[in-house]
Amino acid sequence: MNRSTDNLRSPVICVMGHVDTGKTKILDKIRHSHVQDGEAGGITQQIGATNIPVTAIQEQTKMVDDFKKILIPGLLVIDTPGHESFSNLRSRGSSNCDMAILVVDIMHGLEPQTVESINMLRKRKTPFIVALNKIDRLYEWKASPDRDVVATIKQQKKFTKDEFQEKVNHVIVQFAEQGLNAKLHYENDDLDTWISMVPTSAHSGDGMGNLIALVVQSCQTRLAKRLSYSENLQCTVLEVKAIQGLGTTVDVILTNGRLKYGNTIVLAGVEGPIVTHVKGLLMPQPLKELRVKNPYDKFNEIKAAQGVKILAKDLDKALAGTSLLVAKRDDEIEILKDDVQAE
Ligand code: GTP
Ligand code: MG
Ligand code: NA
Repeated sequence: MNRSTDNLRSPVICVMGHVDTGKTKILDKIRHSHVQDGEAGGITQQIGATNIPVTAIQEQTKMVDDFKKILIPGLLVIDTPGHESFSNLRSRGSSNCDMAILVVDIMHGLEPQTVESINMLRKRKTPFIVALNKIDRLYEWKASPDRDVVATIKQQKKFTKDEFQEKVNHVIVQFAEQGLNAKLHYENDDLDTWISMVPTSAHSGDGMGNLIALVVQSCQTRLAKRLSYSENLQCTVLEVKAIQGLGTTVDVILTNGRLKYGNTIVLAGVEGPIVTHVKGLLMPQPLKELRVKNPYDKFNEIKAAQGVKILAKDLDKALAGTSLLVAKRDDEIEILKDDVQAE
């Protein structure tokens, strides 16, 4: 076995794109959940995190031709809002991700927050693939979610195929205007040069398996080195949230390393650095959203990569978007306080 794939962590995958392109619906389809239905005005207003275990990946990629062995322990998927006023949340949600899924509505093409997302991803050199979503809206589209989407496209009527190709060509031109080379994923044999676009429908389920398969395979081949698990803690605060009965909690993305019950943690606060102790480590069950009120499971120790809710005193003034550090010895605390506040 290849040594570099011995101890891989879950990749952190950020879902980005213009408002209402279907980011949350795509995750709902993968999770068999209804998070989007519960959102006020159908608009995402927080960053979410969901663990997709290998069993779910296997089940959902069954129809994909040539799908190789899964080497990663799962996917940690971050949902971000697409509304223009949440630029800070998009930036925070994508800041430490390993790869992104950029969702584009095939009927609309590139929109202002698509371009904004592209620029954020480029700035951090984050690789991304495109979900060309809402293909079920093509004229007389015939859904066939249990087949590979390539076969499903082939079996459409001529005018449906023509409309599809016309929309695809338009999106390719729009990407070119941004200086990016994009191709349909099944026509792309050079992932380093071309960005792959996977046709999807979060409504019919077409292409969802192909999307997951491409994310998993790109991570395993192109990001294997980056995904080798490290004990060096890498942890970012996503949201600071008051929860009835639990007080103020922080939702974090633990990208590398471990968190343990009792750890002395140091994080940035609006009135200066906060030093406190972990009183609880909670995680939603696999396929459940961290941001939605679900029954949480309690852990004494959590190993990356995971989305974690931390219970501790004095978190009311914690700042989202900054690193969370763990002091191994008391004489480290002062240095770590300077580090977190310097960010
Ligand atoms: P924000 O998070 O608010 O930016 O939106 P979003 O990108 O998460 O999109 P959301 O999942 O809220 O979907 C927006 C609307 O598009 C909803 O009415 C969905 O039902 C619809 N929608 C999403 N995906 C599809 C799709 O594949 N086909 C069709 N026809 N509609 C879709
Ligand atoms: Mg959403
Ligand atoms: Na929406």
